[in-house]
Amino acid sequence: LAASFGEPLLAGRRVLVSAGPTYEDIDPVRFIGNRSSGKMGFAVAEAAAQAGAEVTLVAGPVGLATPAGVARRIDVRSAAQMHAAVLAAAAQADIYIGAAAVGDYRPQEVSAQKLKKRDGSELVLHLAENPDILASLSAQTAHPFLVGFAAETHDVASYAQGKLRHKGLDMIAANQVGGGLGFESADNALTLYWADGAAELPRTSKAELARQLVARVAERYRTARG
Ligand code: CTP
Ligand code: CA
Repeated sequence: LAASFGEPLLAGRRVLVSAGPTYEDIDPVRFIGNRSSGKMGFAVAEAAAQAGAEVTLVAGPVGLATPAGVARRIDVRSAAQMHAAVLAAAAQADIYIGAAAVGDYRPQEVSAQKLKKRDGSELVLHLAENPDILASLSAQTAHPFLVGFAAETHDVASYAQGKLRHKGLDMIAANQVGGGLGFESADNALTLYWADGAAELPRTSKAELARQLVARVAERYRTARG
């Protein structure tokens, strides 16, 4: 009812957004990263602020300005730092939107010195799995309404619905990467899944897509949490 009188969709709600890639250091001059630009997550943070939410943005290493209206920005580099920052901020959040492309693995050991070339012999890096931020949150008894992303190159629907269930999420936003969409691109398209429904958000700018996503999240949040 309030919405029909012009009350912003997320007025009085605290929204936590993670965005961008993570960098996992190998040595003082090298890291393992990924091709996330952070643009989708930053657009989501901006759209949530436009919808009246108090927004905290946890950002991986990106060269992006803080969107207008975002109350707080926490910059991190590694997946471990992002995990710690998100878990600390989640206690004060009603909704967490995990748009970050969190590195799945980190080098088991970070070399304090620059690794030297090995004259023709191969170099083997041992990687350790990083903790899953969304799964850590959903394992807690009291946790925010959880929205995940799933960037897939193939079998988008089945992988995304599997992640929705296995990670205990309230909603997942799935996108096909490659073919000029998704990572490193200005446009994107998403399919949203929740336990008993789905919605297509067709190809458009990341800013417009973020506004549509936030509207859907607000709607599902109201249904689930009142
Ligand atoms: N995610 C997370 N913590 C991680 C890895 C991923 O919270 N350590 C979140 C992402 O922010 C995203 C969702 O989980 O919202 C799905 O990420 P994705 O990489 O698609 O899924 P994974 O579970 O890591 O599976 P895979 O990479 O094998 O497809
Ligand atoms: Ca992953």
